[in-house]
Amino acid sequence: MGENLRDTVSCRSGEESGAGALRAAREAIRGAAAVEVSLDSLRGPEDWPLVYGAPGLFHVEIGAGRDTLLLELGRQLPDRLMLGFEYSRDRVERLSRKIERAGVANVRLVRSEALQCIARFLPAESVESFYVFFPDPWPKKRHEDKRLVSGPSVRLLASRLVPGGRIFLKTDDPAYSRRMLDVLEKAPFLRNEYGPGSFAPFQGPLSHETLYERKWRAQGRCIYSLVYVRTSAP
Ligand SMILES: C[S@@+](CC[C@H](N)C(=O)[O-])C[C@H]1O[C@@H](n2cnc3c(N)ncnc32)[C@H](O)[C@@H]1O
Repeated sequence: MGENLRDTVSCRSGEESGAGALRAAREAIRGAAAVEVSLDSLRGPEDWPLVYGAPGLFHVEIGAGRDTLLLELGRQLPDRLMLGFEYSRDRVERLSRKIERAGVANVRLVRSEALQCIARFLPAESVESFYVFFPDPWPKKRHEDKRLVSGPSVRLLASRLVPGGRIFLKTDDPAYSRRMLDVLEKAPFLRNEYGPGSFAPFQGPLSHETLYERKWRAQGRCIYSLVYVRTSAP
């Protein structure tokens, strides 16, 4: 592992500097466990092989919470790089501990706002799949601009997808599901995998039941899923 690792990875405890933290981060990578990545000191997209110890295609989850989707995918796809964005420190720490205990080598979590980091650090055509499961619905009109799924964000994600790459989405919120459909159907560089305007069946990665999903299903709520495939460059 190169010396450049020194400033690019912080240990799970969230310490951002200090010899102890750096030693712990190196050990974590050697031991093939999950580490939390500090983006402040990542020079750019070229540093990802240092973070994972190998180059590869990404599977990216936006808003991982404490859910184990990436852990399961990491086991199923050992030659892919799992990257989870989550801005709650507590959730990142708890999920990191789960991943570490499981000893799955190819999962990394970034404690940060997802879209800015994707724009800045993920190379074009480097992502096989994005997972956007139960994004906060922001139902009030005055909060509309906080919603994760929008024209500009969909364009950004599509630009990072490989040709034929996919965006998987789920929500329990009927209004947000319609909004997702509206935005995604209008994107000329994407195709609805199940036909125009159609929701997707719960198969493949969509069959994974997230923590939030369990809660909503227990309350009898309906879950809406979508899959879009990149057909051309945005
Ligand atoms: C409703 S929870 C869903 C968590 C998980 N996907 C699940 O289904 O159990 C949404 C999560 O996304 C995180 N989040 C929302 N917007 C985000 C963003 N722009 N960047 C990073 N994390 C985000 C929140 O902190 C929260 O943990």
